Amino acid sequence: MTEKIEKLMSEIESLAAKNAEEAEALRIKYLGKKGEITALMNDFRNVPAEQKREIGQKLNILKTAVQNKINELKEAAEVQQNAGSSVDLTRTPYPVSLGTRHPLTIVKNEIVDIFSRLGFTLAEGPEVEDDWHVYSSMNFADDHPARDMQDTFFVESHPDIILRSHTSSVQARVMEKTQPPIRVICPGRVYRNEAISARAHCFFHQVEGLYIDKNVSFTDLKQVLLLFAQEMFGPDTKIRLRPSYFPFTEPSAEMDISCHLCGGKGCSFCKHTGWVEILGCGMVDPAVLEANGIDSTIYTGYAFGMGIERITNLKYQVKDLRMFSENDIRFLDEFTSAN
Ligand code: DAH
Repeated sequence: MTEKIEKLMSEIESLAAKNAEEAEALRIKYLGKKGEITALMNDFRNVPAEQKREIGQKLNILKTAVQNKINELKEAAEVQQNAGSSVDLTRTPYPVSLGTRHPLTIVKNEIVDIFSRLGFTLAEGPEVEDDWHVYSSMNFADDHPARDMQDTFFVESHPDIILRSHTSSVQARVMEKTQPPIRVICPGRVYRNEAISARAHCFFHQVEGLYIDKNVSFTDLKQVLLLFAQEMFGPDTKIRLRPSYFPFTEPSAEMDISCHLCGGKGCSFCKHTGWVEILGCGMVDPAVLEANGIDSTIYTGYAFGMGIERITNLKYQVKDLRMFSENDIRFLDEFTSAN
C-alpha cells in the first residue's frame, strides 16, 4: 500500500492537461467512483490496525495533493481559453441606450426659450390651487360655467380647493407678490374634468404669458406674438387675430397662424381655411389688475395663453392626444433634441 501511495504521489506531480476536459478526465481517473485513489481508500479497511495511523496520513496527503493539482490544471485551462477568445470582460453587461426628452418638454423648452430672449422670466405656481387664484381673481363671475363640476376637479369635494384648470392662475400668483414692470412666462400642467379621447384629456399643459407696465398696448402684444409665431413655425408664418371673449382680458382675441403645412393655400389639416388657431390673448382687464393689487390707472398689460399639446401637434402632427401620456417607447424615441 505504501509503495502504491508513493508511486501515485510521484505520478501526480507531472500531471498535465491541455484543456478543461482533460483535467476532468484526470479527476475521474484518480478521484472518480472507480478511480485509483478511491480504490486505495476502499482498501484502507484491510490495513492492519498498527499501520492504520501512518498509512491513513499518507493517503490523506495524497488525496489533497491530487485535488489541488487538478484544480490548478482546471484554472490554468480556463485562463488560457479566455485569453484566446475575443470576449471583452471590461465591457458593461448590456448596452445602455440614451433616453430622449418628452415631446411636450421639447416644445415647452422652445416656447420658454423664445420668450426669454424677449425679456420674459420664468414663473410657476401650484397645480392644486384655490378658487381665488384660478377664477375669482381672474374676473370669473360666481356663476361662470367653468366653475362647474363638469369642468373643474375639486379636492375631496372641498368647494375652495381645486386642480387648476388653466395657467392664468399663475398671473394672480405673480401680481400679488410683484409690482410692475412684470414680464413672465408660466408653463405648467392643468386639469379639466373631460372624458379621455383622442382629442381631449383630463390633464394637459399650457404656457401663460403676462406683461404689465406703463403704456403697454395691443400693438406690443401683436408684435411679440408675431415674433413668437415666426420663431416657432418659420419666418414666413403670418398671424391673424380674431375678436373673442375671456373674463380676464378686454379686449380679447384668438390668434391663428397661416397653416404651415400648406403655406396658407388650404389643406385637410387647416380644414381648407389656410389658418390654424394657436392661442388666446388680450389686454389684461383692469378689474383683474385691481383684484390683484395693481393700480389700473397707472398700468396696463397684455396676457396670452396657449396649449403645449396644441403647438406640439402643429409641429409634429400627433394625431392622438393620449400618445403624450402613454409612455410608449416607440413614440418617445421619435423625438430627439439637442437641449
Ligand atoms: N386661460 C385660457 C384658457 O385656458 C387661455 C388664455 C386666453 C390665457 C387668453 C390668457 C389669455 O392669458 O389672455 O383657455
